[in-house]
Amino acid sequence: MNTSTLTNHETITDTFPIKGTDYIEFYVGNAKQTALFYQHCLGFDLVAYKGPETGTRDIVSYVLQQGKIRFVITSAFSPEHEVLQHVAQHGDGVKVLALWVDDAIDSYHKAIERGAESAFEPIKLEDEHGYINIAGFKTYGDTIHTVVDRNHYTGAFMPGYVAKKSEYKSTPLGFKYVDHCVGNVELGAMNKWVKFYEDVMGFKLLITFDDEDISTEYSALMSKVVSNGNGYIKFPINEPAQGKKKSQIDEYLEFYRGPGVQHVAIATDNIIHTVEAMRKNGVEFLYVPDNYYDTVEERVGAINENMEDLKRMNILIDRDEEGYLLQIFTKPIQDRPTVFFEIIQRVGARSFGKGNFKALFESIEREQALRGNL
Ligand code: FE2
Repeated sequence: MNTSTLTNHETITDTFPIKGTDYIEFYVGNAKQTALFYQHCLGFDLVAYKGPETGTRDIVSYVLQQGKIRFVITSAFSPEHEVLQHVAQHGDGVKVLALWVDDAIDSYHKAIERGAESAFEPIKLEDEHGYINIAGFKTYGDTIHTVVDRNHYTGAFMPGYVAKKSEYKSTPLGFKYVDHCVGNVELGAMNKWVKFYEDVMGFKLLITFDDEDISTEYSALMSKVVSNGNGYIKFPINEPAQGKKKSQIDEYLEFYRGPGVQHVAIATDNIIHTVEAMRKNGVEFLYVPDNYYDTVEERVGAINENMEDLKRMNILIDRDEEGYLLQIFTKPIQDRPTVFFEIIQRVGARSFGKGNFKALFESIEREQALRGNL
């Protein structure tokens, strides 16, 4: 089986329309410090907060925004609390991939009718700025999707939160929107979750990568990408494949103690600027050897960016039938070798950088070996 090509969606089959990613919520051990990392190192602005000072007794949440991206960073006080149970099991990680819809109640019921398992029933949250409806259903591992409609709400984030600014003035790094969110699942489970997104959400299979595409000397993985009709939501699902040694997906599954979100890809219009600023702020990236650049121009042809700048920043380049893309991956952003970010700039290309897989996975394996996990 070879990589299938991108298909144009002739007909939209979404079970319910999705307008985009509403927010991504991380459960962490220390929300206050994590929120500062996102402001100082990644250029997010603090926009809203809830915690004991605002009447929430058991948890704290910081809402951070840059471009169209909204991250919610949540922790809790009691070790029995579901948030800290999640952290004890998985380490810091993504709990919620929230979908922005027009009708959360209808979306939730359609998902449940088609086989999704409920995380929580629809609730209406109200304050002086209006109301939102929100409901949740489960996806892989302990991860959930919420559906959120905010057509009747004008507040900072949601009822329960207050608008909050930081005394620290962050400098935006050019983050625009969430390009895609990748899940890692157990061996044999990829097709089940692809079918879940097809059946429950009406998503379509966009691309398949098999272990021929994504293997190095040691390890391999398989991946399928599902997308909604407007293409705003793209969920690649990875599973480990047999290799000589432990695959990067196995390492994730071992340290996350199960399936979960592997990376969130963030779109920028100027990746050289974005990555240069992130590096200056102390963010670490995977390293690809300089000889990658010896042959890259033959492979991708002419591009607008200066190759020396890309090499200096260690940014990778790939081309498909529609254009090219520039991408780079951070090292894991918490202690466990689990969640990381991708920074991506698309210049026409709608694919995922297949031409870079070998160089990237060799780089990931070097890191795995340093951790003693290869
Ligand atoms: Fe990606």
